[in-house]
Amino acid sequence: MNILLFGKTGQVGWELQRSLAPLGNLIAVDVHSTDYCGDFSHPEGVAETVRRVRPDVIVNAAAHTAVDKAESEREFAQLLNATSVEAIAREAAALNTWVVHYSTDYVFPGTGDRPWRESDETGPLNIYGETKLAGERTLQQHCPKHLIFRTSWVYAGKGNNFAKTMLRLAQERAELSVINDQVGAPTGAELLADCTAHAIRLALQKPEVAGLYHLVAAGTTTWYDYAALVFAEAEKAGISLAIKSLNAVATHNYPTPARRPLNSTLDTTKFRTTFDLVLPQWETGVKRMLNEWLSATTAK
Ligand SMILES: NC(=O)c1ccc[n+]([C@@H]2O[C@H](COP(=O)([O-])OP(=O)(O)OC[C@H]3O[C@@H](n4cnc5c(N)ncnc54)[C@H](OP(=O)(O)O)[C@@H]3O)[C@@H](O)[C@H]2O)c1
Repeated sequence: MNILLFGKTGQVGWELQRSLAPLGNLIAVDVHSTDYCGDFSHPEGVAETVRRVRPDVIVNAAAHTAVDKAESEREFAQLLNATSVEAIAREAAALNTWVVHYSTDYVFPGTGDRPWRESDETGPLNIYGETKLAGERTLQQHCPKHLIFRTSWVYAGKGNNFAKTMLRLAQERAELSVINDQVGAPTGAELLADCTAHAIRLALQKPEVAGLYHLVAAGTTTWYDYAALVFAEAEKAGISLAIKSLNAVATHNYPTPARRPLNSTLDTTKFRTTFDLVLPQWETGVKRMLNEWLSATTAK
């Protein structure tokens, strides 16, 4: 089986290189690839890659993920998050190929406090959310064999993430302010990649599972409580922190170019029951990532 992975160097893409490897022959590309075009600003090049590889499964982890930047470059975000997805979807449909794609809690307006279900009406607050929703719709329209996983607050061991940024700031500053009225589930790229591999195996046997799913770690938190957990874990690991005061701030006191939803919680019942998988508590993955990173840092 040939698997074509787009966006191999992103948070999720990196972990997919590991989790997809046992499923078949993996051809992984990114924006800099020279053998095949993996640059989503060239939809025709990406389509050509699909035609040349003739994969059985395409997994797309490439995206325009800079939420604030997207506000000032709508067309570019649309090109990456929707136009290239359409190009992939059309080629995949012609080849009868599966397409696995990721979307976001930011397709929702963040109202209320009930976890969002797949059947709930969308209403993005920002351009990133709008373009990701357009990507979902074009894939649904053009390629019936699709799996779309909406996720939230993604972190990974590789590269920068919220936890690492908080830790660095807490080592430098005595006081920090963190938003405490946005609620969601930090979700590890490892978990997403592992669940993707399991889901692909089932989809190949049971094509009727094609569809849209919410996929996040269990439990919910705020950025404030997330930061507090990071500091507690660092102190347990013997890291000395300068921080004396962690202040909770409301979103409206922390203006950003893109508006963000307050309620980002997603109901994962459909994913868990369809794929017969358990989604661990968000703290489990965050503590594991911190543990690995802190032991590597303190060992230096
Ligand atoms: N991060 C989150 O909190 C979050 C939340 C909900 C949903 N998601 C979704 O989850 C998926 C994976 O996100 P992630 O967290 O792994 O994001 P990420 O780390 O930002 O990865 C996105 C990848 O796309 C690449 N990319 C940028 N411009 C490109 C172009 N022109 N052509 C091809 N690739 C390009 C990036 O490369 P460079 O790094 O070189 O720019 C990066 O490797 C995305 O669909 C995202 O929308 C993410």
